[in-house]
Amino acid sequence: MKTIGVLTSGGDAPGMNAAIRAVVRTSIYNNVRILGIKQGYNGLIRGNIEEMNLSSVADIIHRGGTILRTARCEEFQTDEGIEKALNVIEVFDIDGLIILGGDGSFKGAKKLSEAGVPTIGVPCTIDNDMGYTDYTIGFFTAVETVVDAISKIRDTSSSHGRANIVEVMGRSCGDIALFAGLAGGAESIIVPEEAIDIDSVCRKVIKGRNRGKLHSIIALAEGVGNAYELAKEIEEKTGAETKVTILGHIQRGGTPTAFDRIIASKMGNKAVELLIEGKSGRAMGFKDNDIIDLDIDEALSQEKDFDREMYEVAKILSI
Ligand code: ADP
Ligand code: F6P
Repeated sequence: MKTIGVLTSGGDAPGMNAAIRAVVRTSIYNNVRILGIKQGYNGLIRGNIEEMNLSSVADIIHRGGTILRTARCEEFQTDEGIEKALNVIEVFDIDGLIILGGDGSFKGAKKLSEAGVPTIGVPCTIDNDMGYTDYTIGFFTAVETVVDAISKIRDTSSSHGRANIVEVMGRSCGDIALFAGLAGGAESIIVPEEAIDIDSVCRKVIKGRNRGKLHSIIALAEGVGNAYELAKEIEEKTGAETKVTILGHIQRGGTPTAFDRIIASKMGNKAVELLIEGKSGRAMGFKDNDIIDLDIDEALSQEKDFDREMYEVAKILSI
């Protein structure tokens, strides 16, 4: 393994920079040339590539976003796109690739590995929607951001005696809503994995009001549906003025938590070691407090389990 290429793809996630730093420094430590590929698979197709050194990754462990930039690249989903990428890989003498991204990016990584390019995936997405790993890099930072927002919204919710829906990201995965809802003490948590029971949400608003509670926070995962329609229904059924806050991309930025930096550093380091050992088509993960790697195909095929126990605990604690 003489030359490794690294790229970030799909939605950015806090901790991607810490992972890039780990990949670059571990490569250089092992006397392997390391190339940074810009803007995800776009850069791989177009040859937007620069050699990295120790200073390229100085002062980035604490920064959100990705210094390599990222993209969603439709062309890479076509055979022609893959063909172009394979040509660039040959021209730049790239012997192995490390792909930092979510499940879409992993599907691309799998194709490269099947085409004979040693490739390792490192799971980076705030959504925590990859079934084979307990946590993805960026998830806990997003949860912290949401918890902070819930605390602020709770202040104004109490002052006005309103109900507040806080819509969070996650695509079809409810983990951000579940974790931030529990940590933020939300009165209700609504996720795509569980059938929505509006009457139960309304009962909590009314019962809370009747016992003098001033605020009512409803953590809503974006995959459930329209927050404004839900607010209208709650308002009609409870008489409580109901406001909506869609947190949006604020959840994707910010300084990564220590946990995200640690798993990013460990996974980035191990990904390089696997390539050096001659492995390919592997996915890095974090399971039962350990860094793991498994076949990327198997990783992609594992369904995401929703933590029903945690959901039930949140329900009990918000009676
Ligand atoms: P994420 O990696 O965060 O899940 P996306 O689903 O948008 O984000 O995927 C990121 C990129 O990965 C896509 O823009 C595309 O370039 C690539 N990709 C996604 N699916 C495939 C696929 N089936 N084959 C090849 N490349 C893919
Ligand atoms: O996958 C990460 C994510 O932030 C999702 O939670 C969200 O649905 C989506 O990306 C937003 O994508 P974009 O940044 O392209 O609007």
